[in-house]
Amino acid sequence: MTDSARRVAFLQEMGLGPIWSRRDIVSGTVSEFQEAPALEQVQPVPSVPATALIPTADAVQEQSVVQVTPRVSVDASVQHMDWLQLQSAVSGCRQCTLCHSRTQTVFGTGDQKARWLFVGEGPGRNEDIQGEPFVGPAGKLLDNMMGAMGLKRGENTYIANIVKCRPTDGNRKDRPPALDEATACMPYLERQIALIDPTIIVALGKTAALSLLKLDPATPVSRLRGSVHRYGDKPVIVTYHPAYLLRNLADKGKTWADLCLAMRSFETAD
Ligand code: URA
Ligand code: SF4
Repeated sequence: MTDSARRVAFLQEMGLGPIWSRRDIVSGTVSEFQEAPALEQVQPVPSVPATALIPTADAVQEQSVVQVTPRVSVDASVQHMDWLQLQSAVSGCRQCTLCHSRTQTVFGTGDQKARWLFVGEGPGRNEDIQGEPFVGPAGKLLDNMMGAMGLKRGENTYIANIVKCRPTDGNRKDRPPALDEATACMPYLERQIALIDPTIIVALGKTAALSLLKLDPATPVSRLRGSVHRYGDKPVIVTYHPAYLLRNLADKGKTWADLCLAMRSFETAD
């Protein structure tokens, strides 16, 4: 599929078919001036607590970014675990206070030999109930994004999060993981990455990008888009979090550009 055909598929898959299009545009193509979708297609915006150390807005263009400073805290034995050991360690983990409020841990899902790894922030309410990452509206969009790339959940793809337990605020609403929570949980993701050994990593939003790339707080995250970063020797592409995209539809084109960069990087990666 060409990039432009994929873009059409992506936009259609996202439910963003054109509201207005020029009559002279060939059927099946997308107008460059495509309108935003009807409001009822837009998901509600979750509130973001000011107390969160890692802002959740997932708006990778936001300038105020709080640093994720790595502080190794989990037993180094994690680094030698096999899949079963790792899954068992996560399901019984009490390394941070998120263990108290979880219904269950959300380990990750997909092909353990996947070439593509997508990393999100952490489980939300739906994920906490179902035990699988990205099963709510943002998950549907992620599935559609992958579909537009010719990918599918569970087939040559793996989906994981920075934290494995759902972070909530005082009102039991979803919130982004705090610095200490992301740091405590990171060894599990690091081990998942080592075991999967993917060709490429797509960081979905701010939390994932900052945590994976261990960036300075002064880094304007908007600058992370459009470049190929590295996790070890692996290319990392940063794009918007699907939940952010659901409420900022004007950025869908940028997301598609990021995914095209990811596909190009994948093709040239070892
Ligand atoms: N958002 C995430 O970052 N991860 C999930 O699993 C679900 C929503
Ligand atoms: Fe353990 Fe991670 Fe859950 Fe914290 S979020 S309790 S470190 S699995």
